Amino acid sequence: MAKTRSVYRCTECGHEHAKWVGRCEGCGAWNAVAEEPVLERKVAQTRGRRGAGAQRADVPAAQRLRDVATTPLTRWVTGLPEFDFVLGGGIVPGSMILIGGEPGIGKSTLLLQAAARLETAGRTVLYASGEESPDQLRLRADRLSEDAGAVHVLGETRLEAILGAAAASRADVVVIDSIQTVYTDTLESAPGNVGQVRECSGQLMRFAKESGTAVVVVGHVTKGGGIAGPKTLEHIVDTVLYFEGEVTLDYRLLRTTKNRFGSVDELGVFSMTEHGLVAVPNPSAVFLAARADGISGSAVTALMEGTRPVLVEVQALAAKSGYGTPQRVATGLDPKRLAVLLAVLERRAQTSFADLDVFVQVTAGVRLNEPGADLAVAAALLSSLYNRPAPADVIFLGEIGLGGEIRPSGAAERRLAEAARLGFRRVFGSARGMAQVPGVALVGLEHVEQLVRALAA
Ligand code: TYD
Ligand code: MG
Repeated sequence: MAKTRSVYRCTECGHEHAKWVGRCEGCGAWNAVAEEPVLERKVAQTRGRRGAGAQRADVPAAQRLRDVATTPLTRWVTGLPEFDFVLGGGIVPGSMILIGGEPGIGKSTLLLQAAARLETAGRTVLYASGEESPDQLRLRADRLSEDAGAVHVLGETRLEAILGAAAASRADVVVIDSIQTVYTDTLESAPGNVGQVRECSGQLMRFAKESGTAVVVVGHVTKGGGIAGPKTLEHIVDTVLYFEGEVTLDYRLLRTTKNRFGSVDELGVFSMTEHGLVAVPNPSAVFLAARADGISGSAVTALMEGTRPVLVEVQALAAKSGYGTPQRVATGLDPKRLAVLLAVLERRAQTSFADLDVFVQVTAGVRLNEPGADLAVAAALLSSLYNRPAPADVIFLGEIGLGGEIRPSGAAERRLAEAARLGFRRVFGSARGMAQVPGVALVGLEHVEQLVRALAA
């Protein structure tokens, strides 16, 4: 293929450079300049527009919205329950899905299992791997409980070749493992470079939309968070899933952060076994399985993970500080939120953590992203402070304001129903907005002072 001209555009401000530079001359951002092809097509279009104006015969006609034909959304169910669940019910043909996660978390395993099941269901899947050779994939496949023998594999990283193979095999689903290893002929930069990742993603998206093929791309995430380099990828694709969890623990959390065909923040839970990933149908039970009764510094809350309530245990340890400034360590919640809650407990409820090291963590690698978990964090802190276990049959629900007031959290009914299902008999939280769920008694608390009295007594 003939090389096209390239420009180097800053992904932050859009400033164009004739050659690659480490620092944008427009806005000064470092490592934001990416190669971009200037296609002849674009040049021709610009000329046409300038020449003929709006009178051209091929001007597209807009439609009234009510005249747009609706087609029911098809979904290909993989049969890997939690995977289908986070996608909103299966893979939508013609959609592009990004799966991000740290190396070694299990992205390739997950997709090979999904590919195997799709083949079993009669879909053709092309698995293009630049990370591993076909024989390495074969070794991985042999460990799995599902038979991946029918999956078409391709050890290829040139995008044009992959798209050619996908078209030739009439694949329903194409897996690109990973986007950082593929490159297009139209750019000179190395695979993994921001420009390559963006251009390849753009071409894959066009391919998906034009052919109706579903494209699933793997993106490695750096320790810092974002999908390595190109955060921009998230804007291109239809669905973004993150696969996370501690590599040393068996649990893997699959979370939707964007979905044009379903709700976001859905959480799917898997456990990594000898024979691949196994869906965990009842996350709450698993997250609470390790909870020991009669231990201080533990409190349970119900989080809304997308549309589904999930119970998690918050653990806190307040221990005499050795020297100097006491430590505050938060795992699974924002350290600033912990600081706020400690300040509220000290000022509004006359407790003192001043000379104590404070550690807070959430079990199974879950993150507390919603304020409704405040009350459980405060309860765990107070329970550790007084060295008195919180009652085992209580769940804590509510947000804590700066005045020490306790506020209700949304979706109380679904949270309580999940708590009831797992044997909880009482809920501590604000009476305002609290739902009535059979079997769960409300202990109304409107201020953190009441929480202190309830837990210290
Ligand atoms: P992998 O899918 O290669 O991760 P990624 O593609 O996200 O980099 O996962 C690799 C890890 O999973 C590796 O440490 C081995 C482990 N594993 C199992 O425990 N059981 C299995 O059946 C398989 C295939 C992998
Ligand atoms: Mg991999």
